[in-house]
Amino acid sequence: MLSRRRLLVLGGLTGGAALAPFVQSELAPSGTASTHHPHVHDHAGRVPAVRSGPAVTPFSVRMPVPATRVPSVQTGDTDIYRLSVQQATAQLLPGVNTPVLTYGGAFCGPTIRARRNRRTLITFDNKLGHDTNVHLHGGRVAAAHDGYPTDVIAPGAGRAYLYPNAQPGATLWYHDHAHHLEAENVYRGLHGFYLIDDEAERRLGLPSGGYDVPIMLRDALLDDAGNLIFDPADPYNRPTLLANGKAQPYFEVAARKYRFRLLNSSTHRVFELTLDGAQMTQIATDVGLLPAPVPVDRLVLSSGERADIVVDFAKVPLGGHVTVNDVAGPVLRFDVVRQAADRSRVPALLRPLAPAPVAVRDRKLVLSLDPVNIRALINDQVFDPARVDMQVKRGTTEIWEVTNTDTNVGGSGFGVPHNFHTHLSHFLLLDRDGKAPPPGEGGWKDTVLIQPGETVRLQVDIGSHLGRYVYHCHMLEHSALGMMGQMEIVN
Ligand code: C2O
Ligand code: CU
Ligand code: CU
Repeated sequence: MLSRRRLLVLGGLTGGAALAPFVQSELAPSGTASTHHPHVHDHAGRVPAVRSGPAVTPFSVRMPVPATRVPSVQTGDTDIYRLSVQQATAQLLPGVNTPVLTYGGAFCGPTIRARRNRRTLITFDNKLGHDTNVHLHGGRVAAAHDGYPTDVIAPGAGRAYLYPNAQPGATLWYHDHAHHLEAENVYRGLHGFYLIDDEAERRLGLPSGGYDVPIMLRDALLDDAGNLIFDPADPYNRPTLLANGKAQPYFEVAARKYRFRLLNSSTHRVFELTLDGAQMTQIATDVGLLPAPVPVDRLVLSSGERADIVVDFAKVPLGGHVTVNDVAGPVLRFDVVRQAADRSRVPALLRPLAPAPVAVRDRKLVLSLDPVNIRALINDQVFDPARVDMQVKRGTTEIWEVTNTDTNVGGSGFGVPHNFHTHLSHFLLLDRDGKAPPPGEGGWKDTVLIQPGETVRLQVDIGSHLGRYVYHCHMLEHSALGMMGQMEIVN
């Protein structure tokens, strides 16, 4: 495999070099594909990393929790914020200053805590030398406030985004979405948490306050001087694993239950997480609570996906450790250092899954790469802001069958996973290749992983706004190369 892939990459095909952005050599999740899928998990095919970056001693720094921003003004129905989009430095590695792009100076932007049905108005001032814009991932917002790719904030300009928060409690996040720049802008640090608090959820008694901790997981490639290297041609070579912006940190916890809100903000990597030393209970997926808690021993999160889990450290002795491991190595270690009272609980029922209205039509979407022309396609087309790919009716549901046909990209013998993300609309995953999804995917979602050769069927709840919204592969190197389409929502 190695020599075959190298041959492809080094010469031969006109588009040979273009295979690099597409071919996954070592980090594919191994358990999510059905067995008949050609498998991408091929260690023998790994091309050795050219640049590996500075060595990291795991668990030598503390994981911070991104600071929650306090609104600068509060009116009767709106919380008002102002954030600049600016360059800054961050210590991703201990003692090394890395130039990054930030919201408000922080590599993991400030956490915005919104309340259901209370509006948020955030003005973003673009202090960068290039375009940016802001998208609230998972948010149901008007088209003009959604961060449409060509609807950007020019350097020096500012822009106010209004978020109604008329949706159930959830772990959302905000990030850049500027046309063709989204992968690099997000990679360099334009990402932050946006949490919607919900009275109905609060009454459940889940761990809250200091025991409700958002954790942003992602990867990076750093050079020896500590600079972030963005190489869209080799997104699999990003060996440094970050939790809340620190490489493989530790986090001190009490011997009790915690809620962790996990987000994969990588632009490409699929995390496949296990917990060593305690049980994980998944309580929420992308856009809110699951119907009931699900014990899980493995959590697969592709770019943009979230999972809220509860971990109970009560049975871990003081001084004990619980490690979060990815298939690529340890990500984070919880160090149990003290006792604490725990009145929180995980009720057997979290929220009823209301039946979605009957779907009004079916559609088929096919995701594929075109390595020869270095393009990424949906239904054989690259994104064109001037073309509407589908018209959909507001307030309806539809069945979308989404297939990843990339089982053998450019004849390389390698398959490539994709995922699929819808703006505005949320969906239920009906099946994967005709089989019921695991219970952890049994709630409302906005992003779903699709393995090479796999077909997912989604029941898409279009939503109540009008206008144009995009959907795309959230492996942002792919969306930046065109794997994106748009729907127009009409009356
Ligand atoms: Cu987080 Cu268009 O996406
Ligand atoms: Cu989104
Ligand atoms: Cu993709």
